[in-house]
Amino acid sequence: NKVTFDYSKAKVFIRENEVKLMSKLAQDAKDALINKTCAGNDFLGWIDLPVNYDKEEFARIKKAAEKIKEDSEVLLVIGIGGSYLGARAAIEFLQNNFYNMLPKEARKTPEIYYCGNNLSSSYLYDLMGLVGDRDFSINMISKSGTTTEPAVAFRVFKEKLEKKYGKEEAAKRIYCTTDKAKGALKHLADEEGYETFVVPDDVGGRFSVLTAVGLLPIAVSGADIDQLMAGAASARERCLNNAFEENDAMQYAAIRNILLRKGKSVEITASYEPSLQYIGEWWKQLFGESEGKDQRGIFPASVTLTADLHSMGQFIQDGSRIMFETVLNVEKPKAQITINEEPVDLDGLNYLAGKDMDFINKSAMNGTILAHTDGDVPNLMFSIPEQNEFYLGELFYTYEFACGVSGNILGVNPFDQPGVESYKKNMFALLGKPGYEAMTAQLLERLK
Ligand code: PA5
Repeated sequence: NKVTFDYSKAKVFIRENEVKLMSKLAQDAKDALINKTCAGNDFLGWIDLPVNYDKEEFARIKKAAEKIKEDSEVLLVIGIGGSYLGARAAIEFLQNNFYNMLPKEARKTPEIYYCGNNLSSSYLYDLMGLVGDRDFSINMISKSGTTTEPAVAFRVFKEKLEKKYGKEEAAKRIYCTTDKAKGALKHLADEEGYETFVVPDDVGGRFSVLTAVGLLPIAVSGADIDQLMAGAASARERCLNNAFEENDAMQYAAIRNILLRKGKSVEITASYEPSLQYIGEWWKQLFGESEGKDQRGIFPASVTLTADLHSMGQFIQDGSRIMFETVLNVEKPKAQITINEEPVDLDGLNYLAGKDMDFINKSAMNGTILAHTDGDVPNLMFSIPEQNEFYLGELFYTYEFACGVSGNILGVNPFDQPGVESYKKNMFALLGKPGYEAMTAQLLERLK
């Protein structure tokens, strides 16, 4: 059993010779990644991460996770973008749908909340209220150590922590994941004596889920990070060594580029499990930030079904024909719920008596795939045997490798993000940050 990719339902939209041609481009793209000859080749550390990671740090991550589990009712994960989405995606994928709401005895691990991923004072205020007087710890995550959103949230919660425990004790509850040597956060951590974990130089934010960035919060949730790495290592073997015909990451990269060249410039990731919503968010960042540049790229969108069939389903079936869809199919749910017969069939559902709920869910999925295909929306599928750490590791790595291959086929540098700087410059000018004075007056004039 393994995570697998299947594009058989999309074959009506694609000719064999197109696949043949694109497989050559995918091979070239893969070679460029492996030989490190592609653009952004100083950010390829993620390729070997599952087999070549710092074992001493890995052990320290587990130890820190144990301490947090013992001394904290709440863990605050402060970070944004690649310093946030992977951990959340993994924890929601692996844990109970109502993780934070479970009684403490049932969960046995801290509640986990995320902040520093927005600038909303309402959000932060409500979160402060939720933490209240309870014991808590902070995992502050920022590779650069200078990102405004997490830095602001950290200031607020550091103050709360220091008020509650005093500076010295508070320092023992702050864990910083950042660059090994540079950046404001690293300097602050060294100054204050916080435990630090490293985001390797050659691993960009959106490729960092298998570093301490993802691993510490994931471990705190009680998940098995050894299995996560083992799954990633297993996918890595296939990504690196399998020929195109047996290589899911290369096939996915190739097919989406074929579809893009046919005018399908939006890809929708669809899942029939609500706990995969943040896999969609993580995937959107991975592909959107890696490929959306130089006026190119596929716009990544995501839906959770069947909920969104009652909203976005209309557009997907019948709106502008610009999209293709990739279904994330979890083959085995964690439990069976059988629909029972009722003596009087008032709701008309007795025809489902004796059927398992997952059969209903899968029937909705299969019916939707065919309907969307008939509506000119090519459908691709990743199948995930079940929601555990090993398969999640496979999925993360397969997506990352596919993203590297796909970005190279597209002809962009998948590992930079020049476009995210523009809003920052304007925001800094409007906030009066020293050095931005010249822009401030200009922008204020434009906002009048
Ligand atoms: O993928 C990326 O590089 C970005 O999304 C970053 O992860 C995000 O901007 C956060 O950056 P940092 O970790 O430096 O605070």
